[in-house]
Amino acid sequence: MYTQEQERYYYDLSRKFLEEKELPKGAAAEEEMRELEDLLRYHEWRYYVKDDPVISDYEYDLLMKRLQALEEAWPEYASADSPTQRVSSDLTEDFPTVEHLFPLLSLANSYEAGDLREFDAQVKRLLNLPEGEQIEYAVEPKFDGSSLGVAYENDRLSWAATRGDGIMGEEITANARVIRSIPLKAAFSEKGIFRAEVRGEVLIRKDEFVKINAEREELGEPLFANPRNAAAGSLRMKDPKEVARRRLVLIAYRLGYVGDEGGNALPIPFERHSEATAWLSELGFRTPRQPEELKVCKGIEEAIAHCEAWEEKRDAYPFEIDGMVLKINRYDLQERCGYTAHHPRWAIAYKFKARQATTRLVAVEFQVGRTGVITPVGKLEPVSLAGATISSVSLHNEDFIRERDLRIGDKVLLERAGDVIPYVVKALTDVRDGSEKPIVYPEFCPVNDTDEPVRLVRRAGEAAWRCPACVCGKQTLRKLVFFVSKDGMDIDGFGEAMVERFYEQGWLRNFADVYRLPYEEIEKLGGFGKKSVENLRVAVEKSKNNPLHRLLQSLSIHQVGPKVAKLLAARVKDVFELAEWDEERFKDISEIGPIIAQNVMEFFRREENLRILRELQELGVNVKRSEEDLPPAERTGPLAGKTILFTGALQQMSRKEAKALAERAGARVLSGVSSKLNVLVTGEKPGSKLRKARELGSVEIWTEKEFLDHISS
Ligand code: IVH
Repeated sequence: MYTQEQERYYYDLSRKFLEEKELPKGAAAEEEMRELEDLLRYHEWRYYVKDDPVISDYEYDLLMKRLQALEEAWPEYASADSPTQRVSSDLTEDFPTVEHLFPLLSLANSYEAGDLREFDAQVKRLLNLPEGEQIEYAVEPKFDGSSLGVAYENDRLSWAATRGDGIMGEEITANARVIRSIPLKAAFSEKGIFRAEVRGEVLIRKDEFVKINAEREELGEPLFANPRNAAAGSLRMKDPKEVARRRLVLIAYRLGYVGDEGGNALPIPFERHSEATAWLSELGFRTPRQPEELKVCKGIEEAIAHCEAWEEKRDAYPFEIDGMVLKINRYDLQERCGYTAHHPRWAIAYKFKARQATTRLVAVEFQVGRTGVITPVGKLEPVSLAGATISSVSLHNEDFIRERDLRIGDKVLLERAGDVIPYVVKALTDVRDGSEKPIVYPEFCPVNDTDEPVRLVRRAGEAAWRCPACVCGKQTLRKLVFFVSKDGMDIDGFGEAMVERFYEQGWLRNFADVYRLPYEEIEKLGGFGKKSVENLRVAVEKSKNNPLHRLLQSLSIHQVGPKVAKLLAARVKDVFELAEWDEERFKDISEIGPIIAQNVMEFFRREENLRILRELQELGVNVKRSEEDLPPAERTGPLAGKTILFTGALQQMSRKEAKALAERAGARVLSGVSSKLNVLVTGEKPGSKLRKARELGSVEIWTEKEFLDHISS
């Protein structure tokens, strides 16, 4: 849509207008207004269509305000289709469109308490209220996600649509159906309502965002810059099953249109926004909770205090919020204030301080991970960003650096995505002075300190450069640390420091060594008592019984995480069968692409790896498929196809062991009592779960002993 040259032009133009204070006059004003219109349209395209803005929201608002100021001063030059006259569009050709039941507007923005006092005064003027009168505001977080309208007809979800151009939205109903906080049925008819549209913000949890990006990084896919982009991108995915995996949440912030069967609008059956919100919550929507999230404030000072309190605690909140929204709580007063073409006059956003900072990229270091992937890490002049001092930042891979044209010495714009991980948004290319140096990717493994250089490889279709055959041992150490960790064989108490010590002693060189540790020698090491060595031995022994998929995910095969490991384990009788698989065989598993297949084949082609697997088997480590490796539908064990739940204190085993035993016997372990539950196993002092199960009548109730009898039958 835009050429690179145009993009550069708009970037420079943005900088120019952002720095300029004075407004031009006459013909120059007219010229600048046309430029600003084009410029804002460009930024809207970057934001809504590309999900990849090049300026901050704050800067966008400044540009918009500048155009508004010019239009006010020179109304004769204002154009009817100026960006100030309509909200921006995210329509693409990928989804059908649907007309919102009421237009989806923006909010006016403000950045400090003074702006809010000014807003309050303006509202009082509009409403002809005396200065001293207090207005009741509903104050709630401004959720930073993707807006969505969900429409109901006859108490059933009829469609869901994104913002679009504010009038028409993209219909993404199939995706909305998998978002659990969107009720498929809601009793609007309770209040005589036949048709309704509820507005809300679709969000992704910050921790989920971090997980998704980690997965994308592993699979070599481009990363999302922040949770907002992740939510927007997820909503537009083609496969609702994938959408479901992202665990999106809708927080409903407004009951908008309500109407009867004949297509006539009805009045909202409440006096206040806070009351309508409470009702939506009763209907099954996730709404801002009262009074923690949505607070009804008497007067502007109380509203300001609520905003400031939230700015303090935004980090602890599981979703990203970029400010607060003040709404006049009473609908009759909202009505009297009315709307501009762009936003309601009865509401205003109070934006938090941006979590961005600029600093200098002083160097790039290259690290090697457990699968040999080389990660470039940017070293920064330390800068404070959202409460933390940042001095290094992952630059992910070569493409990430190329796309941003990063150079050593560049000033870079940092953002803390999801309030957690610092992320380089871009280099500030217009302040370069020519001394910046290109980032040179190493040709040989950068951490290898032996005399034997190892050339790095990058396979077609992969984002990462990798060290294909570690000769220096550093990768081996990372592999061992992972092997024993929670995400690997899950050996309790076997931490990184311990692995490093045993490695130094020469006791650990490969995975099989984990099962031939010299425990007597370990006891002689400082810091180890008899008891702790015994605990370690027990934990190591226990891990021998892990299901096959756990062993597979512990081997640090590039791109084989828990998901791929399970897919593979379910299809072989033992680990050695994988050594016989060829490309054709992998094609049967739709989730596994040719690159992952290649990585698995490469691992199993290495005689060294097979030897270690054979040693593991000889040492008693399970290498065979068990019930737990099968999807629930294919299990054949004594509890196959059954769902089970444990309650009360078990006497002969821990909860974790009980779960593992149940899974091994083919059962699926549930987390609560519901009509789906088949068996409840009760330990001592069972609580409300037992009562509930009895009430249901359909649940079998077993003692711990009965459970053990069943699984050994
Ligand atoms: S009320 C008539 N409340 O912010 C406009 N909007 O910049 C009513 N947003 O498009 C909007 N949290 O997607 C409202 N608590 C909240 C919100 C909220 C986030 C979004 C919304 C809107 C955008 C405006």
